[in-house]
Amino acid sequence: MSKKLTIGLFGFGVVGQGLHDIIKTKNLNIEIVKICIKDKSKQRSLPSELFTTDREELLNNPEINTIVELINETEPAFEIVSRALSSGKSVVSASKKMIANHLEELINLQHKYGTSLLYEGSVCGSIPIIRNLEEYYDNELLHSICGIFNGSSNYILSKGYLEGLDYTAALKQAQDLGFAETDPTMDVGGFDAKFKLVIVAAHAYGVVVKPEEVFNLGIQNLSAYDLQYAREKNLKIKLVPVAKELDDQHVALFVLPKFVDEKEFLYNVEYEYNGVIVQAAFADQQFFFGKGAGGHPTGSAVLSDIAALRYEYQYEYKKAKSRKDLQFTNDIELNIYLRYEDEDLVETLGFEHIQERYYSGNFKYVIGKINLQKLIDNQHRISGKAFIAFADQLKGASLAPAKKQAV
Ligand code: HSE
Repeated sequence: MSKKLTIGLFGFGVVGQGLHDIIKTKNLNIEIVKICIKDKSKQRSLPSELFTTDREELLNNPEINTIVELINETEPAFEIVSRALSSGKSVVSASKKMIANHLEELINLQHKYGTSLLYEGSVCGSIPIIRNLEEYYDNELLHSICGIFNGSSNYILSKGYLEGLDYTAALKQAQDLGFAETDPTMDVGGFDAKFKLVIVAAHAYGVVVKPEEVFNLGIQNLSAYDLQYAREKNLKIKLVPVAKELDDQHVALFVLPKFVDEKEFLYNVEYEYNGVIVQAAFADQQFFFGKGAGGHPTGSAVLSDIAALRYEYQYEYKKAKSRKDLQFTNDIELNIYLRYEDEDLVETLGFEHIQERYYSGNFKYVIGKINLQKLIDNQHRISGKAFIAFADQLKGASLAPAKKQAV
């Protein structure tokens, strides 16, 4: 027999409303007791007595046994979630930045108070990747996990590549559709994808990494030259987070634009869809595909977590317990395409095994090998006007095998 859940819901934006739409079509043993919102003056689709602006009405209500946190602000979200967990309430959250920034504390709180925090909706919307990593891949050695984890940036890339829509207009559409973050730099700069990657890495490898330690570069500097280059080679450009086990002791994480060819799963992931590729030792390559943003897709993941709480489901963080020797590193060699203006930058980055170098008018690029740490050390110079993409399928036969080759 499942437990009755009495819910205090924080936030009634795109995902909160999406969740409510889905819940009302189901006959689950669930009741939304109160909804805490920020702006009381907004017109709401539900009776006004259901809403409050006072968070204490939810957190201090003994009749509420479950908190669903779907707000935008990171630190208030952490306060709500940590207070709820500490007072014996179970929690479902979709706040990826908050979870990534506070993962260690959140894991400790769950252990200390025996409460459960579930967050499937925080990573890749409707794709059930966290529970799969936690349960299905429990005993699998995972070589790598990568994919498209951000719907807005993928939407912008698809609109540009397939429909010729310019960046600003495509971003505006992503915002109007409710996909984009309040600060869209989070999407296009690869930060949002990085927060999701950090969460994925905890369940895939048991490493809890601070987001600021992980390199992310986005699509802001993508130019017509880069698209022209991609088209000529029948490639597309996608924003791809990567978690890769390098050996028994090291795992690398980074977020970079990536050239993908038509044989790769990610090639056909367009618009707000996300994709996750898991490369496992025995299962081999597996691909998860689904909508990564939007009220109903994300609401469906949140509902799945709520439903799991009826049976008192908790993440066990099994990999963190079993693989204590695995450490995060930025010491990885990558095959990189760099479009640049400043010749000095190429020298400073110290490319090795240069495979292609091209100059014509304002279009200058180089493709070769570089250590990720070099990119990190020179990030301020790259983020100006240069564009970088991870170009693993462009490595020629002449390249010496990499010491630590990425996926
Ligand atoms: N801004 C995010 C995206 C929302 O575009 O993927 C879903 O996490």
